[in-house]
Amino acid sequence: MKLLTGNSNKNLSIKISKYLKSKLVNSNIKNFADGEIYIEINENIRGNSIFIIQSISSPANDNLMELLICIDALKRSSAKNITAVIPYFGYARQDRKVVPRTSISAKLVSNLITKAGADRVVTVDLHAGQIQGFFDIPVDNLFSTPIFARHIKKNLKGKNMICVAPDVGGTQRARALGKILDIGLAIVDKRRPAPGKSRVMNIIGNVKNKTCILVDDIIDSGGTIVNAANELITKGAKEVHVYVSHGVLSGSAIDKIKKSKIKKLVITDTIDNHEKIKKVRNIEVLSISGLMGEAIKRISNSTSVSDLFK
Ligand code: R5P
Repeated sequence: MKLLTGNSNKNLSIKISKYLKSKLVNSNIKNFADGEIYIEINENIRGNSIFIIQSISSPANDNLMELLICIDALKRSSAKNITAVIPYFGYARQDRKVVPRTSISAKLVSNLITKAGADRVVTVDLHAGQIQGFFDIPVDNLFSTPIFARHIKKNLKGKNMICVAPDVGGTQRARALGKILDIGLAIVDKRRPAPGKSRVMNIIGNVKNKTCILVDDIIDSGGTIVNAANELITKGAKEVHVYVSHGVLSGSAIDKIKKSKIKKLVITDTIDNHEKIKKVRNIEVLSISGLMGEAIKRISNSTSVSDLFK
């Protein structure tokens, strides 16, 4: 088994390789003068099971293309099998036609990854679990819930907590975390008047005097979470702590969070944000590397991955 990293999140790849005590494959990923990507693998990988680690995070198009080109290079270098380890699976939000004449980009990206030559996909907190069915190869969807639950139990012990889904689509995720913590559930009734814009219509459930644990898969512009947090405080919540798997954090998201009523935003390192959030006091990053490393180990040894979540 060997690990190869793309350029999107080398810090996470290094942590995973340390966990597995396995060096990253010696390779160069470079650009031609016009921006086209090329990769050279500088060691023999014939007959090896290769795990290529690459998030489809910003710049999403470049990182996706890099992943596809890496898979193609691995296939043409006679790797025995290729697992695309995609900590953040971008393009997943367009998983159905919400309005007519739009793309289902999650399906297109699944087709591209399979066609390039991947034999298996490992990812974290897919935007919608059914995206697994867009692939005809095995997909292991890992959950950050146990990592978040551990952090909450350690840091918010004794508080009168409630788990909150920031929209109806996030109910299952919030319920899963609430179940581990043995706390109740509230739901934010969010509407999207236009892509990238969100409005809170109502809060379903009583949040008065509660410590709210807002949980979501993605924080992008920050609108969903910041609007929800503000509304929770307006409805009498004592404080709001936010747990989000993927810190996309585009545009002015960090500024919005800094100025918001959010006590703390906790994200994972599926996307490398360490430069962006260096001096931000109310954002904390938990590493997903141990979980991903363990999943890779188990896939390699043909042992259960789902046992990790029991
Ligand atoms: C939506 O269904 C997702 O789960 C997130 O709530 C959404 O992508 C967050 O986007 P933003 O931060 O731009 O509101």
